[in-house]
Amino acid sequence: MFQTLSPAVADPILSVAEAFRADPRPHKLDLGIGVYRDGQGRTPVMAAVRLAEQALAAAQPSKTYLGLGGNERFNQAVAKLALGEQAEAGGWLTLQTPGASGGLRLLADLVAAARPGARVWISDPSYVNHAPIMRAAGLEVSFYPYLDAAGGTLRRDAFFDAVAGLGADDVLLLHGCCHNPSGVDLAPADWQRLAGMAAAQGFLPFVDLAYQGFGDGLEADAAGLRVLAAAVPEMLAVYSCSKHFGLYRERTGAALVKSADPARVRGKLFELARRSYTMPPDHGAEVVAAIMGSSELSWVWREELEGMRQRVLGSREALADALAARGTPVEALRAHRGMFSMLPLDAAAIARLRDEFAVYLVAGGRINLAGLDESRLDELADALAVALRERPATA
Ligand code: LMR
Repeated sequence: MFQTLSPAVADPILSVAEAFRADPRPHKLDLGIGVYRDGQGRTPVMAAVRLAEQALAAAQPSKTYLGLGGNERFNQAVAKLALGEQAEAGGWLTLQTPGASGGLRLLADLVAAARPGARVWISDPSYVNHAPIMRAAGLEVSFYPYLDAAGGTLRRDAFFDAVAGLGADDVLLLHGCCHNPSGVDLAPADWQRLAGMAAAQGFLPFVDLAYQGFGDGLEADAAGLRVLAAAVPEMLAVYSCSKHFGLYRERTGAALVKSADPARVRGKLFELARRSYTMPPDHGAEVVAAIMGSSELSWVWREELEGMRQRVLGSREALADALAARGTPVEALRAHRGMFSMLPLDAAAIARLRDEFAVYLVAGGRINLAGLDESRLDELADALAVALRERPATA
């Protein structure tokens, strides 16, 4: 049976994580997978999560099945976090999914069911799993210009030229904030312009919001999504609680859909979920629901998240300063937002960093600023400066 399988395609992010784990060198540095680490290189369970888990362990009355839509209190909390006041405006439905990746697949299946052969437009570059998930659902994938890799800036004119060509059969997948892998976000005026174009041209906006709170703050990071939501009758979004609640392995996410007929869409999503995973895991969702349902716990969570955001911003500045001091400036790092930036490094430089310095980056030059261990900044900057000199930065 299985002799005919083609060789598996290695995932560019998870394979870096695996290679890092297998590296016995004690001084190794992981700037690969997108997880937050504190100043000592740890990814702790957030305080509000710990408290909610303790209460849950003591008092959860049952673990019987929930419905196909998952945890309804979680769904309401996510809708509020993502959409703000528009959560109550009608037209929206929110469905818990196994992580945002599960949400991406569920919504891709929904689009495929509604419009077979629809085309999804993805930023160049984008999160490595966007295109595979869309293609797995049978959708066509094209890429729109986004990043000027040498300068670390948005190719604004080329981006809007591409969007101007989209119509009713097109889905435009956007990063709500903290663009993965580049850290280059759309400006508020860009979101306004996009909203006008979506309303006039009829393409379907699809926003992936995976890093809310890591860019410019919880409200600011959802502002683009909300501008679009206010302008169009139909749109899609996926939401991740992996990073800002630190619930990575609990697979806690959601799919959000705005439409004229939420009951019809909900029924189809239930059907798609049932024949795939049936219902999402509850633990992470119940923790989020408990935190957002308590003013005390949500205050603890917001404070800790803001501290994490500030730390990543500090790491950006510190690394930019350290690279400038070594004569290999990458000034664009300072303007980027979220966990990631891309350094202008080619495959040979990335391999050298790994082999010679035990520094792990994702292919393409993505670094995770949230993974920086402060005590090792100089060591890292020395190694990066060597690699950047091979292919000098123009940013
Ligand atoms: C990342 O981009 O590193 C994370 O979102 C992890 C993942 O799921 O790939």
